Amino acid sequence: MSDHDLTDRPRRLRRDGVRGLVSETEVRASDLMAPVFVDATADERVPIDSMPGHERVPVSEAVARVREILDTGVEAVMLFGIPESKDEVGSRAWAPDGVVQRATRAVTEETDAYVVTDVCFCEYTDHGHCGVLEPGAEAGEGLTVDNDPTLENLARTAVSHAEAGADMVAPSSMTDGMVGAIREGLDASGFDDVPVMSYAAKYQSAFYGPFRDAADGAPAFGDRRHYQMDPANAREAMREVRLDVEQGADVLMVKPALPYLDIVRAVREEFDHPVAAYNVSGEYAMLHAAAEKGWLDLEETAYESLLSIKRAGADLIMTYWAETVADRL
Ligand code: PBG
Repeated sequence: MSDHDLTDRPRRLRRDGVRGLVSETEVRASDLMAPVFVDATADERVPIDSMPGHERVPVSEAVARVREILDTGVEAVMLFGIPESKDEVGSRAWAPDGVVQRATRAVTEETDAYVVTDVCFCEYTDHGHCGVLEPGAEAGEGLTVDNDPTLENLARTAVSHAEAGADMVAPSSMTDGMVGAIREGLDASGFDDVPVMSYAAKYQSAFYGPFRDAADGAPAFGDRRHYQMDPANAREAMREVRLDVEQGADVLMVKPALPYLDIVRAVREEFDHPVAAYNVSGEYAMLHAAAEKGWLDLEETAYESLLSIKRAGADLIMTYWAETVADRL
């Protein structure tokens, strides 16, 4: 008998045998989406230094790469493209023979993967910004992407992805009105069945560093603070998400994930749509860097990251850990 008068002892339910019964959250392979980088300038697979385990693959290897992912139990991929050439407006983003279009065609014809495509221009413009520039942008402080002319190009790009067979499109440029423009474009072309997953609350985050190496999409001047959200703001995220819901978004994404779990939770509580979180390149790279020094256990911290994102309220997670974690489930 204990000397203490304790009736409430949470530890009773932490023993083997009962832990699983009372567990509240679960990560399933079917919740995960794996990013894939397809590079029109590569003729072989090129490892990405800052993202161990990930590589840029040529179009000819896209199917093989996606099959490796499917073998782990993950069923969905998100395709990013590195085009053969860039220009001022990013016109290779909507080319019928563009890198994402070719890869999408091959992957949807030859595999059962659910293919989501990133719709943005930063990898396709020579200045690295996510759309058409305002006149004088390079010279002028505070000028960057011209919102409304970018909308038309976003719609074009989304339609070209759908024509190539994309199952879902995911606009990531934080252009005001992007979801509505894309929805309208898709519907007008007969793609009313293709859902839009909006990067609804996308922050101007330093955690995207490794991705910009991977996708060659760093801005040539300035940064993205004039279109991506200020990390200081939470209420504004609700406003952003609400606008995307009004414009017909099917899935609402918060990005990054771990430093923004408060936003994931708030979106979960306020809206009934599926909530996605993007566990970004920097969140991946920092665990790898610490594990390399022997300071953290890689697989344990990877799994705990995804579990925490789900616990905060995400239904699905875009993550570079998809294969690692699915393999261990
Ligand atoms: C393109 C895009 C970015 C990411 C996804 N889509 C880069 C950016 O906005 O600068 C980042 C993903 C990651 O860091 O894993 N707009």
